[in-house]
Amino acid sequence: MSTKKFAKDSVTIMTEMVLPNDTNTLNNLMGGKLMHWMDVVAAIAAQKHSNRIVVTASADSISFKEPINLGNVVTLRSQVTRAFNSSMEVFIEVTAEDIPASKKIMTHRAFFTFVAVDHNSKPVRIPDLEPETPEEIELFEGALRRRQLRLVLAKRMKPEDAVELRSIFNLDITK
Ligand SMILES: CC(C)(COP(=O)(O)OP(=O)(O)OC[C@H]1O[C@@H](n2cnc3c(N)ncnc32)[C@H](O)[C@@H]1OP(=O)(O)O)[C@@H](O)C(=O)NCCC(=O)NCCS
Repeated sequence: MSTKKFAKDSVTIMTEMVLPNDTNTLNNLMGGKLMHWMDVVAAIAAQKHSNRIVVTASADSISFKEPINLGNVVTLRSQVTRAFNSSMEVFIEVTAEDIPASKKIMTHRAFFTFVAVDHNSKPVRIPDLEPETPEEIELFEGALRRRQLRLVLAKRMKPEDAVELRSIFNLDITK
């Protein structure tokens, strides 16, 4: 499939309220619950881009710096940053809002990778993505480096083949 799609075509926004069943004993949102919401919002963006069934292939490191409190309203925004062959990288931003206190903070940013598959779970080709805005272009350009890093860490790519990472690994390809 060669038709191009735009990053904006995949934008997905999901809003949830943190209820007692979602919290730990300190009345903060459980990390696993947040990761579940991130997985769902990112999968929807990946489906919008590919018009296919998608599976989560990886989730890049997520750190929990700010707790999200009981009663906060959590907004998750996702969009595909770049499409490769069957896989696509999705960027997720999370904000938490205490509406009565008029306080809103950005709590998390993460990259997930999804693979489009057919009904036999076989990866299938997806449309290319064309970035338009400066932010989309920056995300698009960084996506190749992040892809190579996650594939090296997953032992699916040899470090010497990760051309975008040469400066990080200090590899001399002339040897
Ligand atoms: C993801 C999956 C479809 C890849 O299948 P595979 O047979 O290994 O296919 P390939 O080696 O051809 O890889 C297909 C694509 O996945 C990407 N991929 C595979 N593992 C990856 C990883 N850990 N991180 C990022 N991308 C990955 C490959 O880079 C490739 O991308 P491309 O087609 O854009 O070049 C397969 O491993 C799978 O079904 N995993 C389980 C998914 C799942 O159940 N997720 C929910 C978790 S419970």
